[in-house]
Amino acid sequence: MIEFQQIDELQQWVQQEAAAGRSRILVPTMGGLHQGHLSLMDIAKKRAGEEGEVVVSLFVNPTQFGPGEDLAAYPKTLDQDRQGCEESGVDVLFVPEAGVMYAKDASLKVTEVKLSSGLCGRTRPVHFDGVCTIVSKLFNLIQPQAAVFGEKDFQQLAIIRRLVRDLNYPIEIIGGPIVREDDGLAMSTRNLNLSSDHRQEAVVLRQALLEAGKMLGDGERNAEHIQAHVEKRLMESPSAIPNYVEVVHPDTLQVLDEVTDALLVAVAVFFGSTRLIDNLCWREEK
Ligand code: PAF
Repeated sequence: MIEFQQIDELQQWVQQEAAAGRSRILVPTMGGLHQGHLSLMDIAKKRAGEEGEVVVSLFVNPTQFGPGEDLAAYPKTLDQDRQGCEESGVDVLFVPEAGVMYAKDASLKVTEVKLSSGLCGRTRPVHFDGVCTIVSKLFNLIQPQAAVFGEKDFQQLAIIRRLVRDLNYPIEIIGGPIVREDDGLAMSTRNLNLSSDHRQEAVVLRQALLEAGKMLGDGERNAEHIQAHVEKRLMESPSAIPNYVEVVHPDTLQVLDEVTDALLVAVAVFFGSTRLIDNLCWREEK
């Protein structure tokens, strides 16, 4: 595995690979790697095939954290991450410092104005500008043929698909399924910040979403009933403080009254200062 920390070294390599006709499949991460990330690397590896290269970026992007959010507390496990990437057969690891990625007087950002207004965007107003900006920069630098993002961050994935469409990046966006712990908790770097009591309680996110799935299976189509049930179920957990519970259409992220062909139940919940997200995406069988 080759590791780059500087942009010029990375760009030189990209030019060389492009000239040789080899494709690059990108997995952008902020480190703190877990099985969920490794599953994205597996998807990238398959997409790259024998000839292509898998590039993982590892950068805790400061512009996607608002004031008072957990930038300083974001887990940093670089040695372990490096080893995970090696073992997953990653070809290139890009690990820039913040000063390498952003000029001191950087004055440009990429803003998506529709899909980012609800869900996480409502309480994290700068978050998706930061995500769109850093992902655009990574796309420009690495010029991948495809990039892989996890479906746990459903809204992020939808926004990245829109970014690629509206800014004409010739990049295929691949969603990787949520990977869960044995008790159902969605894998997340932030799980490392949970106390043991909060870790046990956090399984309530999955349980509440499974119950929403059961309601749908039983024929419930009133979005408010589903939302109210999930909210109530989360509140039964003594330490859970829901940030939001929303029932939206998975394609538009617009709030639903009545469920027709598809729905996304998305939740964000605080346990202490740790904020976890999860979702259930349902589509009517045709
Ligand atoms: O999902 C993440 O880890 C980040 O939002 C991403 C896509 C790497 C951008 O910093």
